Amino acid sequence: MNKLITSAGKFSGTVRVPGDKSISHRALMFSAMAGGESALTGLATGRDVASTAACLRALGADIGQPDGGVGAVKVLGHGGGRFARPADVLDAGNSGTTIRLLSGILAGQEFAVTISGDKYLRRRPMKRVLDPLAAMGAVIDSRGGLPPLTIHGGGLSGIEYKLPVPSAQVKSCVLLAGLFAAGATTVVESMPSRDHTERLLPIFGVPVERGRLRCTVNGGAAPRAASLTIPGDPSSAAFFAAAAALVPGGSVLLENICLNPTRAAFFDVLEEMGAVVERLGRRSEAGEPVADLRVAHGALKAFDIGGSIIPSLIDEVPVLAVLAALAEGTSRIRDAGELRVKETDRLKAVADNLSRMGAAVRELPDGLEIDGSARLAGARIDSYGDHRIAMAFSVAGLVADGDTVIRDSSCADISFPGFYSELDRLTGKV
Ligand code: S3P
Repeated sequence: MNKLITSAGKFSGTVRVPGDKSISHRALMFSAMAGGESALTGLATGRDVASTAACLRALGADIGQPDGGVGAVKVLGHGGGRFARPADVLDAGNSGTTIRLLSGILAGQEFAVTISGDKYLRRRPMKRVLDPLAAMGAVIDSRGGLPPLTIHGGGLSGIEYKLPVPSAQVKSCVLLAGLFAAGATTVVESMPSRDHTERLLPIFGVPVERGRLRCTVNGGAAPRAASLTIPGDPSSAAFFAAAAALVPGGSVLLENICLNPTRAAFFDVLEEMGAVVERLGRRSEAGEPVADLRVAHGALKAFDIGGSIIPSLIDEVPVLAVLAALAEGTSRIRDAGELRVKETDRLKAVADNLSRMGAAVRELPDGLEIDGSARLAGARIDSYGDHRIAMAFSVAGLVADGDTVIRDSSCADISFPGFYSELDRLTGKV
């Protein structure tokens, strides 16, 4: 499916984006590990979280169909972190979080199971979880470090593991395996990555000892059922925030957004660029800081980012690059080599698509350098099957001269079903 995007004369309104994807994966997994009934509200509606639910159902968890309106779902697990051997290969679809976090849980089970995914996921590196799991005693077969993974679970020992890449998926995988291991398991980071696992496990009754860059769990601690409401996804909100910042006169109210500091740096950069960003009604939900965000148009200036800020805006780099292409001056993004192993090579995909729109962009080994200009030209955009590329360039299309066509646009459903209808509503096209 292709989506036609035309230039927008306005961008305004109030939006409620889907529940946070990272928290939703974890809430489903911990509920399925617990005995008794957990009640989750605000669960993410996209295909990635549906992949996690399908895997957990195949492992014997009883997960209701989420009610579309508020994303409410009941989950009944076996208890004690135990699952039943699935009849078939588990399918993680496009979701790196599903395969990497579940690998930690499956390494603790007393059966062998194979987990795979779509053609994009089967190209993504798994050695980063296979190495620590092997060090804990797991036996895992892979296709040279790529999925499918066949995990022969059981007999794990706790370890202290220093993360070689800043990755919340790897950190979470090791901590979850640690719940099934003898003794304590500690993960040490070189810079903070998103900490939803550490915040959510205690809500499910599992103690986590935390320092700034290290955290520890003890083997034998199993989650207990819990009820919680998942706040809105800052990574989905970022697209509408960017559109409001770019379209002259634009202004949006984004309700109930998770502003966890390990996730929210995009909004700080947007504010420093010159957009109006207000954080209203700060509160806490599911152990996470939450606020309503009002974002409005401003004259945008270039930015220069690298180092430890990168993990806290890693998924927002494609839309930041679009902002850079329309800001005054040259923007630089460094230390972001991890983007080459996301759903697609996002540095290449961004550089390619921005060039098609007439922007001056240089691809660096670990980042991008982008000269801002006053205009972009409408173009045929290749989403590369990557949801965040499709949505970032839909935003670019709103402020480009002429038509923009997003090829394979339906991949937006991976994190944000309904994205295009919300975009049309906010631009007054419906
Ligand atoms: C995620 C962690 C990040 C992020 C991904 C979701 C998570 O990946 O890019 O979209 O839910 O833990 P890495 O762990 O590979 O950095």
